[in-house]
Amino acid sequence: MSENAFPTTKTKASENFERSDWSSAYSNVDKEFSNFELKAAKGAIPKDLFGTLYRNGPGRLERNGQWVHHPFDGDGMITSLRFEEGKANLTNRFVRTKAWQEEEKAGKFIYRGVFGTQKAGGALSNAFDLRLKNIANTNVVLLGNELLALWEAASPYSLDPRSLDTHGISNLNGVLNPGEAFSAHPRFDPGHNNQSRMVTFGVNTGPKSTIRLMEFSTQGDDAGVLISNRKDTFNGFAFLHDFAITPNWAVFLQNAIDFNPLPFIFGQKGAAQCLSSSKNNKGRFLLIPRDSGCYALEPPRIFEAPDGFVFHHLNAWEENSEVVIESIFYNDFPSIQPNENFLEINFDEIPEGILKKCRINLLNKNVTTEVLSNQCCEFAMVNPRMLGMKARYSWMATAQKEHGNGPLQNIKKFDLFNSQKHIWSAAPRGFVSEPIMVPTSSSNEDDGWVLTVVWNGERLASDLVILNANDLSEQAILELPLAIPHGLHGSWVEG
Ligand SMILES: [Fe+2]
Repeated sequence: MSENAFPTTKTKASENFERSDWSSAYSNVDKEFSNFELKAAKGAIPKDLFGTLYRNGPGRLERNGQWVHHPFDGDGMITSLRFEEGKANLTNRFVRTKAWQEEEKAGKFIYRGVFGTQKAGGALSNAFDLRLKNIANTNVVLLGNELLALWEAASPYSLDPRSLDTHGISNLNGVLNPGEAFSAHPRFDPGHNNQSRMVTFGVNTGPKSTIRLMEFSTQGDDAGVLISNRKDTFNGFAFLHDFAITPNWAVFLQNAIDFNPLPFIFGQKGAAQCLSSSKNNKGRFLLIPRDSGCYALEPPRIFEAPDGFVFHHLNAWEENSEVVIESIFYNDFPSIQPNENFLEINFDEIPEGILKKCRINLLNKNVTTEVLSNQCCEFAMVNPRMLGMKARYSWMATAQKEHGNGPLQNIKKFDLFNSQKHIWSAAPRGFVSEPIMVPTSSSNEDDGWVLTVVWNGERLASDLVILNANDLSEQAILELPLAIPHGLHGSWVEG
């Protein structure tokens, strides 16, 4: 298969989108732009949008005719979209990771991927190669003066926030040990305990798992300085992709997952393909006290979690004696097995994400669960000023249909108090990515903009869509000069 080509995939009669439109997003990014000025193809860029949207996701999916087994194994490619005075420009760069540079030179994959990409030569040539390929492809955030490209199983890569030039792996001024895991899901505390912070974690997992909880200042000259640090060890394997914060707690859901590493060791599967839902264990909520809160120095508290698997949480808050957390639950761990082709996913056969709310009672230890919406969703957020508090509004990506699984084609504003919703749809030929809500200076929780990169199956390229956060009315569409594969996470940096 030639570079940048993608296999044709068939559409099921019951689907209301063309599979080839969805899969056409999966191609190698073959251009890098610097300060490319963007024009609005529709509408106008809001004049009060002042800052930079950073996006991360897999940008290299094929080498020498070999495709990654799962797009999550694609090398990280950062896109920045800078907005100022009604104008926007785009810069994009691959993260120059050690593995990316080596594979560029070799012209082929020379590392295995966690999600099943193997080196050529079958199990024999993959067995006992347990090196981790840090692909820096999951999220991108600014901490102090470092733009960090994040991948949860290893340390971050540091980039220049404007040029996106790669400086190299960062140990965050000595905070991280060589190779130490650093989550791709930091949470930005807007200042619950009188100081805005970036709260994040790293997990060292095994039969026992240790969570290192870290809090960094994000204010003034201290931005990037570690101000809080604790380690707690729990029984069991812990697959922790995300977490949530409240003023007093860091809230984790330890999924009921078993890990059988043998197929990975013997070269038959990627490490993440060795995860499966546990038949014997229950998931657990792990509540770790934050050092800035009123339970500082106390031990963690553990509660039984409902069945299901969670990658992402929406938000958490405290209410009387309860910690409340909203999360996207799957009824099983979604994986792509060695004999499956990700381009031919049958959406009907893989579990969909359902938004649920769990109330954890700290006094009687009861946990109750409520479904908030049955519509398949992912990538949900609240107004960042409401993080850790009881927020009314949320914005998320959803399938177009009301029930069952499907590709993400809608942006939904969802009222968490009364279930009212607004929908903006890119269907039938468009496919959305994570929406980022950018608040204005107004005190109304839903005043602001929603930014999302949309795969345009007609143009075979990506668009940046700007919506009014209040009613999701379309503000502007910018046609990007890039074809960006379906991506992962990003962030907004004001100013
Ligand atoms: Fe994530």
